[in-house]
Amino acid sequence: MDELNKTSKTQREKAFKTILKNRTLHGGILAEGSGFLKHGENGKGIRSRWYPETLAKRLFNMAQVADRIDFRCADGLRVMEEFAANKDAVYFIDPPYTAGGKKAGKRLYKYNDLDHERLFKLCKSLKGDFLITYDNAEEVKEMA
Ligand SMILES: C[S@@+](CC[C@H](N)C(=O)[O-])C[C@H]1O[C@@H](n2cnc3c(N)ncnc32)[C@H](O)[C@@H]1O
Repeated sequence: MDELNKTSKTQREKAFKTILKNRTLHGGILAEGSGFLKHGENGKGIRSRWYPETLAKRLFNMAQVADRIDFRCADGLRVMEEFAANKDAVYFIDPPYTAGGKKAGKRLYKYNDLDHERLFKLCKSLKGDFLITYDNAEEVKEMA
């Protein structure tokens, strides 16, 4: 808690705080008001998601391919449009669960206002493969 209350100034400090929050808060939820994991998996509490050696290993592995990763602070739908004609592009699409007025995605994410119909239309136009995650809701099945 002391660590999370500290003001982070540098990008490195901010990055560390983000991963610390993601690994110790309930469900990895970073939204305001999120609380610490209580029981965690198998009653391991915070340790069920905070395993420093493995996390460090993952970061080292990511560093190997970091120059091939392009982070964009952008609208994912526009990015999909940009690559739609490229048959070698593959997509992992993980939108907020708000289709059909569902609340889960609204509660969890600040950016939850998404045009799901448009997203499904865009998926249809993709030449490459894609994997999309959604809740098992009637509205979603209809669009799919
Ligand atoms: C289910 S979460 C994705 C979680 C992510 N796959 C992960 O493992 O951390 C949905 C995310 O979609 C983001 N989002 C909503 N609308 C978006 C858009 N138009 N473009 C890009 N991201 C968007 C939200 O900010 C939210 O973080």
